[in-house]
Amino acid sequence: MVEVSTSILSVKKEDAIKLFYNLETAKTDYFHIDVMDGKFVERNTTELMQEYANGIKQISNLPLDVHLMVEDIQTYINSYIPFEPNIITFHLEPCKNKQMVLEYIKYIKENNIKVGIAIKPNTRIEDLYEYLPFIHLVLIMTVEPGKGGQKLIPETISKVRKLKDYINKNNIDIDIEVDGGINLENKEELINAGANILVAGSSIINSQDFKQTIEKMKNI
Ligand code: DX5
Ligand code: ZN
Repeated sequence: MVEVSTSILSVKKEDAIKLFYNLETAKTDYFHIDVMDGKFVERNTTELMQEYANGIKQISNLPLDVHLMVEDIQTYINSYIPFEPNIITFHLEPCKNKQMVLEYIKYIKENNIKVGIAIKPNTRIEDLYEYLPFIHLVLIMTVEPGKGGQKLIPETISKVRKLKDYINKNNIDIDIEVDGGINLENKEELINAGANILVAGSSIINSQDFKQTIEKMKNI
């Protein structure tokens, strides 16, 4: 089954609550919360995303899919635990060693939250293999993290295929999430490659009919 996680990164403050309500009505499967610290990526969305997560929690029971694009992973995990997200995904790149990665995985799980690990377009998928038995989700970035509205980097799709083959061969049950520049034109290729959670920001938020776009996004 393919699911859609709507990125609320580009949502304007003025219409945020109304828009969250509309996204719920349109049956998004998750709200994708893009947390940026101004260090791992240039932009800083720390306060805005806390505000949005709060707002969503007040009006919706839909799961939060938290994507941490931050260096200080521990602090940011702590700041999202109170929201009881369904998934917290952190990036592999800022982790200094294997020990650190394993500690974050354990800590997130102790709080009854699913764990995801994300990789940037230039990070090899093989670097994640040793963690696959312990996590719930891999997030393959299909653009450079940092901003919405970019064009998908086609070369990243082969990483999805490679990971899908690997998990099939090794009987690993894990979600493959893709994020960045995903739209109705390229979703089919991503789904065929093995992705089962599609993150989409601009292509949903800028569409006329959220419900129709989300439905089309899932169907091939
Ligand atoms: C990029 C973020 C993405 C992105 C999605 O750093 O992680 O979630 O904003 O937005 P679109 O779909 O507009 O690329
Ligand atoms: Zn994201």
